[in-house]
Amino acid sequence: MSMQPAFLIKKKRDGQELTTNEISYLINGYTKGEIPDYQMSAWLMAVFFRGMSRRETADLTRAMVRSGERCDLSDIPGIKVDKHSTGGVGDKTTLVLAPLVAAAGVPVAKMSGRGLGHTGGTIDKLESIPGFRCALTIEEMKRQVRTIGLAVVSQTGNLTPADKLLYSLRDVTATVDCVPLIAASVMSKKIASGADAVLLDVKTGSGAFMKEPEDALLLARTMVEIGSDNGVRTTALVTNMDEPLGHSIGNALEVSEAVTALRDPRAVPDLVELCLVLGSQMLVLGERAPDAASARHILEEILESGLALAKLREWIGAQGGDPTFIDRDVPLSRSVTQVPVQAFRDGYVTRIDTETVGRAALVLGAGRVRKEDTVDPRVGVSIRKKQGAFVRRGDDLGVVYSAGRGTDEAVRLLAQAYQLEERPVDPEPLVYYRVESDGVVSSGPGHNSDRNP
Ligand code: URA
Repeated sequence: MSMQPAFLIKKKRDGQELTTNEISYLINGYTKGEIPDYQMSAWLMAVFFRGMSRRETADLTRAMVRSGERCDLSDIPGIKVDKHSTGGVGDKTTLVLAPLVAAAGVPVAKMSGRGLGHTGGTIDKLESIPGFRCALTIEEMKRQVRTIGLAVVSQTGNLTPADKLLYSLRDVTATVDCVPLIAASVMSKKIASGADAVLLDVKTGSGAFMKEPEDALLLARTMVEIGSDNGVRTTALVTNMDEPLGHSIGNALEVSEAVTALRDPRAVPDLVELCLVLGSQMLVLGERAPDAASARHILEEILESGLALAKLREWIGAQGGDPTFIDRDVPLSRSVTQVPVQAFRDGYVTRIDTETVGRAALVLGAGRVRKEDTVDPRVGVSIRKKQGAFVRRGDDLGVVYSAGRGTDEAVRLLAQAYQLEERPVDPEPLVYYRVESDGVVSSGPGHNSDRNP
């Protein structure tokens, strides 16, 4: 009787804790297709409002790991380090960081996701490279990590099928921005994919699911706890997502910007800075460097020498993509219309509502509104003015790249996202907190002055 989905929905709705068996019944039933989307959606919404205890969150994570296979990477030499972002706008970090860290000698075996809500996903971005294959088998992934030190794959294997299903259901039922659901989603994937260590980039700000740094800190702590409880060394940085990272939002646009960052790091300073900060922590986790300062030095040299760009080329080729893609301009101009969005007054850019920018890209077709939607790799938004810039009325704030769908709404959203005022405001820090397995929480550098949190 008690194991009926409707009873478990009601139990959570009324604020009670579910038992370990009840949670595993729901996850198994949903994964097997025995519990329908409408009941799982209702349960997710109940969790959204009522939350989960630490024990429930741990049980949910374990049930999701058990829903599929677990990858064993122990036969690949070295400490395998994974990285995961909780989701941002214009967040093409993995495309820069994975080849950078791999070129530094730390093997990267990473499972990535698709776009979620207003945020983009690495797999959608990679698939905008002609021929690029993300659906590798576990054996293919391992072979590639052994040969070139790097693979980024989708969840297509039988790893955490429960997360795959729940992820796309949450995406369309307004149940993404919830600490236990994000923590279990991220950590189940990380545990199942077999990495020895994980660096989590927990986003906060107007473009993140966690708008406030303190909520992001709670999420960071929850995930680090789950990692430690499951033998995965985990460090989390709470980082700023109060404006899009770099200038481009949209799949092919973002790949192109990642290539630019590897080719000419000064062209995309905020993206490169974040990659250096995150990459330094990955080198420390991978025991390639004793501390963040020396790790950063190694990464800066690799970036300057062009080795990271060469690794990107090798990586694209290894996963079936056309490596010459990165030498060409993304063929956008012929197939999409570019519509500029202009400043409506003089002033400083004091705020860019980043979720709204993400929604502009979404309505153009860069993300999914329904589960079964396909993304259009060509479309998106380019930000021309970032926070702190002074603009004159009529200057371009940004450009909408449209393939015909949602153009007017995207233009309206992009204009609406900008706040222009007479006086500039102080920039927020890039990193707010660092959370490590031993529970130490330190606030990050004030305004990027100390570059090694
Ligand atoms: N990233 C994930 O993998 N899962 C979430 O729930 C949110 C961000």
